[in-house]
Amino acid sequence: MTHTHDENRLPATHAVHGRTDRTYRSAIFPIYQTSTFAVGESSDFAALLDGSAEDAFVYTRYGNPTVANVQEKLARLHHAETAFLFSSGMAAIAAAVLATMQSGDHIAVVRPIYGGTYGYMGSMLPRLGITPHFITPEQAYALEQHVPQARAVYFETPANPTTLCVDIAAVVAAAQRVGAKTLVDNTFASPINSTPLTLGVDLVIESVTKFIGGHSDVISGAVLGRAEYTEALHHQLIYFGGCASPLEAFLVDRSLKTLSMRVQHQNAAALRIAEFFAADARVKRVYYPFLPTSPDYAVAKKQMKGGGGVLALDFGELEDAVAFVDHLQLVVNAVSLGSVESLVTIPVLSTHARVAEEERALARVTAGTVRLSVGAEAVEDLLADFAQALTHVRQFA
Ligand SMILES: Cc1ncc(COP(=O)(O)O)c(C=O)c1O
Repeated sequence: MTHTHDENRLPATHAVHGRTDRTYRSAIFPIYQTSTFAVGESSDFAALLDGSAEDAFVYTRYGNPTVANVQEKLARLHHAETAFLFSSGMAAIAAAVLATMQSGDHIAVVRPIYGGTYGYMGSMLPRLGITPHFITPEQAYALEQHVPQARAVYFETPANPTTLCVDIAAVVAAAQRVGAKTLVDNTFASPINSTPLTLGVDLVIESVTKFIGGHSDVISGAVLGRAEYTEALHHQLIYFGGCASPLEAFLVDRSLKTLSMRVQHQNAAALRIAEFFAADARVKRVYYPFLPTSPDYAVAKKQMKGGGGVLALDFGELEDAVAFVDHLQLVVNAVSLGSVESLVTIPVLSTHARVAEEERALARVTAGTVRLSVGAEAVEDLLADFAQALTHVRQFA
């Protein structure tokens, strides 16, 4: 039997079927836990180095079959021509920016974004002679008025932590008017809910740690795009050395096989849970992209297949957020998201503890905000846990 990759197959199929093991015909693609690859004859190096040999693996930082298998699967899921796997989402973000920018350039950074990304843009890029301009989504839609000199626009949708959605097509159109590239962090959506390359974005970034990894046991990241970015991205990988290890890639491959069914479950469960909280007077506000009352509903419906597995609740006061979270019996109080265990965090005490008030406001974060990542548990059990924890929350006046 010969395996073929028909691009017309659906995402769930692409996520399961990758490379096949030609040596022993193992049903799953094996882990090549090796740092280096041998040559038969010394003269074989020439073909390995110039890339003319098929699957020319020399040294794992440059490329590894287990890593390549994951990169190819991610590329199919994202309709990308090139994909690189990195040691973390942050390594992927750093690489995507440095692959497209150089000293003297300006980058428009659309807030809100993940705190680590904000720190990187604000504190690292100026040291390299790259100037970040922090703007709102509305300013990004009129980029020519706000940062006409931008060489790139960086944004995140849905954005951490309250799932604010940025209109991908509108950012792409504005960026094209000033000749800027577009880079988007797709972590909250995952390729099951959103494929921004099909909307004209230049580079997509995933923190693979989150929904793609899906089991709170891997740190990894990916950058995807058109073939013209292959060399620049590969240079970032090999010269800064932030490659994914074969073991991590093997775990990501195993995770990918269930990505579609996990995310579809999370989409449905998160919507049901969002509706549950929206109907409870003790919760002041609920943010979930596919909740019709959400301010992000129109944009989300336009560009996402599902609302994703993350929602944010606002209890108004920190005291009530803490009362709710500390009485949960099933849901784990930890940062991160996208896993099979439901995770909850209070941003002002964790991810946003050191974030200025103005930044928090842009991200719609108040002292009473709770971010919830819905896992793979039975929804009924989660709802029962939420219902008992809510009894400890004061009625919002
Ligand atoms: C939206 C988003 N992007 C990127 C990252 C960074 O990813 P990693 O922790 O894999 O470096 C995170 C981490 O929380 C995130 O939430």
